[in-house]
Amino acid sequence: MSKLITVFGATGTQGGSVIRAILADAVLSQEFKIRAITRNVSKPAAQALQKLGVEVKNVEKADMTSKSSLASAISGSHSVFLVTTPSWDASDPNAELVQGKNVADAAREAGHVSHFDQKAQVEQYIRATGVPCTFVLPGYYMENYIRFGMLRRDDEGVYTLVYPVGKEAKFPLLDGAEDMGKFVLAALKHPSKLLGARILAATEYYTPPWIVAEFEEATGKRARYIQVDAQTYKSFLPPAMADVVLENQLLIEDPGYYAGEGLEESLELLGDVGFEPTTWREFLERNKDVFE
Ligand SMILES: NC(=O)c1ccc[n+]([C@@H]2O[C@H](COP(=O)([O-])OP(=O)(O)OC[C@H]3O[C@@H](n4cnc5c(N)ncnc54)[C@H](OP(=O)(O)O)[C@@H]3O)[C@@H](O)[C@H]2O)c1
Repeated sequence: MSKLITVFGATGTQGGSVIRAILADAVLSQEFKIRAITRNVSKPAAQALQKLGVEVKNVEKADMTSKSSLASAISGSHSVFLVTTPSWDASDPNAELVQGKNVADAAREAGHVSHFDQKAQVEQYIRATGVPCTFVLPGYYMENYIRFGMLRRDDEGVYTLVYPVGKEAKFPLLDGAEDMGKFVLAALKHPSKLLGARILAATEYYTPPWIVAEFEEATGKRARYIQVDAQTYKSFLPPAMADVVLENQLLIEDPGYYAGEGLEESLELLGDVGFEPTTWREFLERNKDVFE
């Protein structure tokens, strides 16, 4: 009989990647039925999931901020993929923790669930519940450079990357939509070996000069890296989110994304299930039209 995996964030980057990776896998697509969670079953991304066919058994409405909606979302699940989303609204500082706790509590009450992804506090909370879990920690999305216009063409036609960190800062880049699911697949294929483990989902640590150099080679456009001080960086951002975004960039230098931990073990796990991670160069080749 099929096992059921409930996927939160199914209409988003990570959850969508997990669903596509399971469906593309000959073994797991037979082993798992997928329950895709959304707050709005009529939105186009949810409808698209519905159309993926028989393997996605249902697209169910639930909201992580409302614990009462989660029992039925999780019921009968063998595994749950959890991704929470932060609120950028300063008046709601605990939004992500509330979401993570709600899902963890619902999972504990439901019994048999095994796979989670989340950030530090939620990770601690989940570990404390005793629910069997694996943590897949996504790196820095390559998509950020497109979605947030981080490589922006200046008046001289040069694409400019600006960060408040030095040239040695190490960004563990991940093609979120393409590769997050591959790392989660590694966890799903080796559940007992990876119980309690942390998988660092990233291709490689890239420095800003390397990011820019690959960009020039892949797109044929001129590019440069400029380091600015913290105040200047904040001045580019909407005031409500400036402090949080600044912190997110500064931590890459100190203490380091993943505190500088090596990626070798995680990449070995990926290799064991037959995948190579997408390089920054490959991502750029695939998306170079965006930078016309
Ligand atoms: N940008 C980066 O470089 C980066 C790197 C690592 C980690 N992250 C983290 O990744 C997370 C976001 O993941 P993503 O990029 O996959 O998200 P995304 O593409 O922005 O999509 C968000 C997903 O979360 C769902 N969602 C939001 N609020 C919800 C709620 N209250 N209840 C149920 N579902 C809810 C949405 O579903 P519906 O709208 O359909 O309900 C949607 O599927 C954040 O925690 C972010 O900090 C980002």
